[in-house]
Amino acid sequence: MSLCIVVTRRIPDAGLSVLRSSGAVIRVVQPDPAAGVERAELLDAVRDADVLVSLLTERIDARVLSAASKLRGIANFAVGLGNIDVDEATRLGIPVTNTPGVLTEATADVTWALMLAIARRAPQSTCHPDRGEYQIWGRELFPGEDPGRGPDSERRTLGVIGYGRVGQAVARRAHAFDMRVVAYDPYMHDTIDASRDVSWCDFDDLLRECDFVSLHALLTDETRQMIGERELRMMKDSAFLINVAHAEMVDEHVLVRALNERWIAGAALDVFERTPAMAEGLALCENAVFAPHIGSASHGTRNRMAVMAATNAVALLNLQHAPNVVNPIVYESPVHVERLARLTPWLRATAAEVV
Ligand code: GLV
Repeated sequence: MSLCIVVTRRIPDAGLSVLRSSGAVIRVVQPDPAAGVERAELLDAVRDADVLVSLLTERIDARVLSAASKLRGIANFAVGLGNIDVDEATRLGIPVTNTPGVLTEATADVTWALMLAIARRAPQSTCHPDRGEYQIWGRELFPGEDPGRGPDSERRTLGVIGYGRVGQAVARRAHAFDMRVVAYDPYMHDTIDASRDVSWCDFDDLLRECDFVSLHALLTDETRQMIGERELRMMKDSAFLINVAHAEMVDEHVLVRALNERWIAGAALDVFERTPAMAEGLALCENAVFAPHIGSASHGTRNRMAVMAATNAVALLNLQHAPNVVNPIVYESPVHVERLARLTPWLRATAAEVV
C-alpha cells in the first residue's frame, strides 16, 4: 500500500513538487487557499497520514496526534510551533520539524512596515482619490511620529526583546533610520555587538527607555505573557509596542486597556491570541494596526518555506533524520523505536539504524 503525506492546506507548488517526488500519495485536506480546515476533516485525514505537513492555522494537539496512529513525523510549514503540542508529540515518539532561517528577512521587513504604519499612521493616511478622498494636509494633518530622529532631532531608541535571527535583522535595519538600538535576551548576551551600535539592556530599563519595543523572542514558559500590566505601565506613554512574534507573549486584554487609557501611544500586531478573533475591544482601538500574520508572506519566502517543509517531510517519510527536527531527543526514546517497529515491522529498528 502506498504511503501517504497529508498536507492540511495547500502549500506553494515548489513544495508540492518535492512531496510528489517522494512517490507517496499526497492528500491536501483543504485545497482552497482561502478556506480553513474543519476540525472533523483534520481528525479524519490524519488517520491515513504517514507524514503530516501542517500549517500554523491547524491545531495539532493530543487528540489529533492520537488519531494519527501511523504517523512517522510532522513537518510544520512555519518556524513557529505554537500550533503543535510538541511535548505530546515527543512523548509519543513523533519527530517534529520547522522551517528556520528562511523567513528572517521577510519577518524583519514586516516588523518595520508595522513600525512605520503605527508611528506614521499609514493606514489612516491611505486615501482613495477615485472616491473623492484625497484631501491634502487634511485629517488633523496626519500627526504621526518620526521613527528615526524625533522632535529637536532627538535620536529614537528601538528596544528589541529576543536577539535571535529576526531580532538581529530588525536591529540592522534600525541603523538606516539612525536609531539607537538596545536589546534584551538573556540567552544571546554574547551576540549583542556594541560595535554595531546595539547595546545590551536590562528588561525593565528597555521598557522604560524605548520609543519602540519590538518582540522577537521564542515562545517559552518564560516569555509567555511577558508583556502584561506591569510592563505596559512601565513603557513611555509615547512608546509603541510591535509584536510579529507570538500573541501569547502579550496579555491582549490588558493591552486593550493600555491602548484605550493611553498608557502607551500605540501597538502594531501581526499575531493574535485566538486567531482570527481578538480580545474584546482590541479591533476598535484606533491607536493600533493589525496584520493577518504576514511576517513570512512574500512569494520568495513562502516558496523557500515550502521546499524546506517538504524536504523535511520526505526525510521523515523515509525514516531519515530530518534536517530541522525541533525535538531531536525523540530519536533517543524507546517509544520512537517502538513506534517505528510497529509501523514498519520489516525494519528491525534500533535508534542507531533509524537516524
Ligand atoms: C510564521 O510565518 C512562522 O513561520 O512562524
